[in-house]
Amino acid sequence: MVKNIAVIRGDGIGPEIVNATLKVLDKVADLYGHTFNYTDIDMGGCAIDKYGDPLPQSELKKCVESDSVLLGAVGGDKWNNVPGNMRPEKGLLRLRAGMGVYSNNRPAKIWKQLSDASPLKKSIVENGIDFIIVRELIGGIYFGEHKTEGDTATDVLRYNVSEIERIGRIGFETAQKRNKKLCSVEKSNVLDSSRLWKKVMHELSFEYPDVELTDMLVDNCAMQIVKNPAQFDVIVTENMFGDILSDEASQITGSIGMIPSSSLGSTTCGLYEPIHGSAPDIAGKDIANPVGTILSAAMMLKYSFDMEEEANAIEKAVSSYLDSGYRTADIMSEGMTLVGCKKCAELICENLKKE
Ligand code: IPM
Ligand code: MG
Repeated sequence: MVKNIAVIRGDGIGPEIVNATLKVLDKVADLYGHTFNYTDIDMGGCAIDKYGDPLPQSELKKCVESDSVLLGAVGGDKWNNVPGNMRPEKGLLRLRAGMGVYSNNRPAKIWKQLSDASPLKKSIVENGIDFIIVRELIGGIYFGEHKTEGDTATDVLRYNVSEIERIGRIGFETAQKRNKKLCSVEKSNVLDSSRLWKKVMHELSFEYPDVELTDMLVDNCAMQIVKNPAQFDVIVTENMFGDILSDEASQITGSIGMIPSSSLGSTTCGLYEPIHGSAPDIAGKDIANPVGTILSAAMMLKYSFDMEEEANAIEKAVSSYLDSGYRTADIMSEGMTLVGCKKCAELICENLKKE
């Protein structure tokens, strides 16, 4: 198959982790006889420096016209003082909205090789950590009106029924493919938008009688994720709650550097990115962990290109790499062999086999 992939390296460690991932994709192409064409896209701080705009319209157009988009990370202190609507992150938000990718899937799964890296007690980790956060990605407070007038700043959190329904359906469908447990997370004891969220979820639940729906307040959920993560199968929540809970969930698995994500809308053209940021403090040092991005590429193969076998081959190669005792600095532990970003990708390529 021939696939055209828009590649956004972005800022900080973005270029390193993306270059490492392209090595793995090239190996997949070799082994399985595919052609992956890469189109470089400027987005984030680097685009501000080049064009004075974090995502020029022409760059967005190339993304929308591609078969899928692979993204490293954007942002950094250098652009902290640019106006809010011109920040590197704004490029990312415009990309998500422009691609219409309303459903963000963030797995929280502990690799057996890394169970020691979890900050949770062994007795909790032993019960298993394997759940998915389905985060609404193009609505809510991120996309409401933002304004500052004198000494007052306002951000609007708005959702309508159809926005909640479409992400709700993804939540139910994701649960149907797993253990059939869906937890809808909101703050309905305070927010109107959350009361609407809860009502819509319960209306939808009649269409999915095989899925057990529960409700949880977001503050309680933050607590339950560290207290008893094994209770969760699929969590569905709005944009900002999903942002916060997914960082928390990643930490209990050991490292945020290992977690991929996929974002999809109504077409197969998806956006694939690790959930971590651009980590400017370690940029250019070849010490970043590229696995979150490599696994994001595997998700691209599975969800956008229907290449399930190829995706599984990447996941297996990552597992064999961990089995062999190699670790990047973020997940390093005693007795393991420390490797950098490039070496990590090389080792994963070596382990990549066509079944
Ligand atoms: C994420 C990030 C982004 C978000 C930022 C960089 C805008 O934190 O993907 O989780 O808040 O969505
Ligand atoms: Mg985040």
